[in-house]
Amino acid sequence: ARALCGVVALDGPSGTGKTTAARRLATEFGAGYLDTGAMYRVATLAVLRAGIGPDDASAVVELVRRIEIGVGTDPKEPSASLDGVDVSEAIRTEEVNQAVSAVSAVPEVREMLVAEQRRIIRKALDEVGGIVVDGRDIGTVVVPDAPLKVFLTASADVRARRRSAQDAAAGRVSTPEETKASVERRDRLDSTRANSPLRAADDAVLLDTSDLALDEVTAKLTELAEDRGLLC
Ligand code: DC
Repeated sequence: ARALCGVVALDGPSGTGKTTAARRLATEFGAGYLDTGAMYRVATLAVLRAGIGPDDASAVVELVRRIEIGVGTDPKEPSASLDGVDVSEAIRTEEVNQAVSAVSAVPEVREMLVAEQRRIIRKALDEVGGIVVDGRDIGTVVVPDAPLKVFLTASADVRARRRSAQDAAAGRVSTPEETKASVERRDRLDSTRANSPLRAADDAVLLDTSDLALDEVTAKLTELAEDRGLLC
C-alpha cells in the first residue's frame, strides 16, 4: 500500500470540508492527522472554565502557560484533552465557537501552540512518515516549507449548511441563520487579526469546494498529493 510521505498543509475557514477530507486522506495513506483548531479550542475552554474574559490577553497568556493541551494524531479517532482529561465534545460548543477567535488572536498563545504543533508534526514524520495538518496558518506560518499546501474555500451559504449538518449529527441544536452568522463572524475575526491571519500562502493550491461532495474533495487532495510525488 502507498503511504503519504511528508506534510500536507490544509488551510481555510470552517465548513469547507477541510477536516473530513484531511482525516480521510490521512486514514487512506496511513498518515497522522493534526487538528490545530482543536488546540485553540482546548485553550479557549480552559479560559472559559477559569472565568477569564477571552479578551483579557494577559490573563489568557498566564493561564495557557499553565495548562496541558493534548491532541491525538490518529485520523480515525481524533481526541483532545485538557490537563489529561478528555474534552473532545466540550470544545465543540457555541460558547467555545464564540470565544476562540479572541483567544487565538493573542500572539503569545499562538507562539506556544505553534511550537507544540511543530513538535507533534516532527514526531509524526519520524514515526509514520507523513501527516495532514488542518488549520488556518499551516502553510503560512507553522510549516511554510510544506511540499503541498491547499487552501479550501466555499461560499458562506454552503459553509453554514455544512456546519448545521455537523451540529445536527452531534446533537447540537442551531438554526441556519444562527449558524451562518456565527461562521461568518468567526471567519471575519480570523481573517482580520494582526497575527497570522487566515490567508492562503502564495504557493497554495486554491480549491473551491462549494460544488464538491466530500468524496470529491478527498479525491482532489489525493490527486494533488500524487502529482507532488507525496505518495510513496
Ligand atoms: O478549525 P476550527 O474551526 O476548529 O478552529 C477553531 C478556531 O481556532 C478558528 O476559528 C481560529 C483558530 N485557529 C487558528 O487561529 N489557527 C489555526 N491554525 C487553527 C485554528
